[in-house]
Amino acid sequence: MKTTISVIKADIGGFPGHVSVHKECMEIADKELGAAKNNGLINDYRIMRCGDDLELIMSHTKGINNEEIHKLAWDTFIKATEKAKSLKLYGAGQDLLSDSFSGNVKGMGPGVAEIEFEERKSDPLIIFMADKTAPGAWNLPLYKIFADPFNTAGLVIDPKMHDGFVFEVHDVIDNKRIELKCPEESYDLLSLIGATDRYCVKSVKKKNGEICSVSSTQRLNFMAGRYIGKDDPVCIVRAQSGFPAVGEVLEPFAFPFMVKGWMRGSHHGPFMPVPFEKANPSRFDGPPRVIAAGFQVSNGMLIGPSDLFDDPSFDKARAETNLIADYIRRHGPFEPHRLPMDEMEYTTLPGVLEKLKSRFEVIE
Ligand code: 13P
Ligand code: 13P
Ligand code: MG
Ligand code: MG
Repeated sequence: MKTTISVIKADIGGFPGHVSVHKECMEIADKELGAAKNNGLINDYRIMRCGDDLELIMSHTKGINNEEIHKLAWDTFIKATEKAKSLKLYGAGQDLLSDSFSGNVKGMGPGVAEIEFEERKSDPLIIFMADKTAPGAWNLPLYKIFADPFNTAGLVIDPKMHDGFVFEVHDVIDNKRIELKCPEESYDLLSLIGATDRYCVKSVKKKNGEICSVSSTQRLNFMAGRYIGKDDPVCIVRAQSGFPAVGEVLEPFAFPFMVKGWMRGSHHGPFMPVPFEKANPSRFDGPPRVIAAGFQVSNGMLIGPSDLFDDPSFDKARAETNLIADYIRRHGPFEPHRLPMDEMEYTTLPGVLEKLKSRFEVIE
């Protein structure tokens, strides 16, 4: 029987501001998913958080896009939102764009990444969860993990990986998808995914079709048509025995690359890998954070998590993040710290520009 891992997440209210999720909201989620485990709907679950995003990790046998699983997540977010409202937490229910559930949480605000697979003899799995950034943040690390031999030694020295991988890329503006093979089409792939605002790596497969990785690509502000917050994406990656090793999957995060998000979802900033307890983006509402939860999936149960960035070998990346943060923050409201104009469309800036519109005069 196949196992499905569903990671469904939402910002249901921040404590304080956009820094973290309140303990009482996490307790509500724990109670809801605990009941679903007891009645057999799901095999196992973990409640986590990255910054102000509540993360529901569920294992079950119902496949991806299952209505019961999505409804469970939606109802859990609604209940956690009620608690957030009672505590007057900030932006309570921020990511829930609808009043009623209609079969699938996609398009309703929450971020979703789901992966279904036949369990191997041993199935290590890493779930990355981010705050204060957008889905394009996974493009660079996924490229390095599955296509860059300077990152992933297995591409060169493991016969089971030597063939390369297939990337499924979504154009989140035109709502189209394309598959590109690596290494053959790696330059084509890079020509797209370097544009992280538009093209997002949705999934990675082996050439025989076996699924390796799935990301959430929901763009909250496009769906809502107004500024709400950032999408704060998640990404699931399977590891070992023909997939990249756990250490190869984590290696790209030793470089604190620039992502979009941070304060008001409107700035570039370095992506800081942190242990679970350090995912509290407070400086200028950031810098953007990423945590990595390591599991062994065993007969539908989740063994873990192991806190994978709780390792001094990522201290240098964290120190570097702080240096880069100091440097780029000194630009204040100037680009490239602030995002370029076209990417500010879904922020609160257009409201300010509207006021000046009538005062513009034609230059003769
Ligand atoms: P596997 O081929 O068993 O995944 O071994 C690779 C490894 O563990 C190196 O770290
Ligand atoms: P979130 O997307 O994490 O809610 O952050 C929004 C924001 O405006 C931070 O300054
Ligand atoms: Mg928030
Ligand atoms: Mg958030």
